[in-house]
Amino acid sequence: MNASAITSPAEEQRETDGTSPVNSYTEWELLEEVIVGVVDGARFPAWHVALEPVLPEGQVTTFQRQAGHPFPAECIELARQELEEFVHILEAEGVTVRRPTPQDQSQVFGAPGWSSTGLYCAMPRDVLLVVGNDIIECPLAWRSRYFEAAAYKPLMKEYFRQGARWSAAPKPQLTDEQFDPEWEANAKPGTIPLVVTEFEPTFDAADFTRCGRDIIAQKSNVTNEFGIEWLRRHLGDEFHIHLLEFNDTHPMHIDATLVPLAPGKLLVNPERVLEKPAIFKGWDMLPAPTPIIPDSHPLYMTSKWINMNILMLDEQRVIVERQDEPMIDAMKKWGFKPIPCNFRNFNSFGGSFHCATLDVRRRGTLQSYLV
Ligand code: NVA
Repeated sequence: MNASAITSPAEEQRETDGTSPVNSYTEWELLEEVIVGVVDGARFPAWHVALEPVLPEGQVTTFQRQAGHPFPAECIELARQELEEFVHILEAEGVTVRRPTPQDQSQVFGAPGWSSTGLYCAMPRDVLLVVGNDIIECPLAWRSRYFEAAAYKPLMKEYFRQGARWSAAPKPQLTDEQFDPEWEANAKPGTIPLVVTEFEPTFDAADFTRCGRDIIAQKSNVTNEFGIEWLRRHLGDEFHIHLLEFNDTHPMHIDATLVPLAPGKLLVNPERVLEKPAIFKGWDMLPAPTPIIPDSHPLYMTSKWINMNILMLDEQRVIVERQDEPMIDAMKKWGFKPIPCNFRNFNSFGGSFHCATLDVRRRGTLQSYLV
């Protein structure tokens, strides 16, 4: 080992100017630095009951049969090319782009009582939550994602050394008590059936959306009340987490349901958000146009509403899927500047521009935007 190549944390700390490289309070302030996921090496995860409630109809048997095998090479290659296009667009718009370090997803790992193989590092939005200068490793509920944060460790170490906060929620054991295999039969009348139990705190970052001091959360098949409460106490009194429920019987990740675009502008899924949530009083509620993704296009892990999963570069510029003309037209009508990017092949892997990114730094300070 070349010891001289290693810089100690203390030495790197001295190289910083005291400001944090991590700073993001909203979904819309001027984007300066972003992590964009990598799809290379993506595999169908080891089968587990927690996958079942959120996979599109018809995919359950595919996932059961293909468990542990790579996704089709041509799908990965087309998605990889679209990610490169996305990166070039972001850089041309003045954003610094960072990438994770892919891990070998065929490795078997586990904890007492279970073992699994991995999935990918394509969706940083699920794994890490940035609130202000704090970058938080989330307690993911899918066993296949237990060590997914590893792909981001080099970046997190760097950000920490340069002055960011670096937190991790308690690592759940993900034993069988964490999941209810009879989730539908056991759901209390009037509640949405969820496969994840309240055994230990779990959450994916993508079940939260940030509007300054106010953070909107949903319970889902990966995010439980225990997890939301952990985050509430971790963030403290400066933030208010609002728990909302939507007309979604298979919830997982809020960013194809409710997407704040800019102060006063809320993009909503018209099938899932039937009334404007009271906390958005005074905001315009903009119904997302019906998706146009053809039935023949493979979507392994999401509904077609992935068309709403856009990324704001500031209060005007928005990255939108190039073939999604209804969304491009709607964005123009609402006063935004859409920037088209091919991404439909990436969509097959369960996300679009918001899922594929983590906004590390946006210009801005902590503000209130809601009533
Ligand atoms: N689970 C959501 C996608 C979230 C990005 C859906 O399938 O619509």
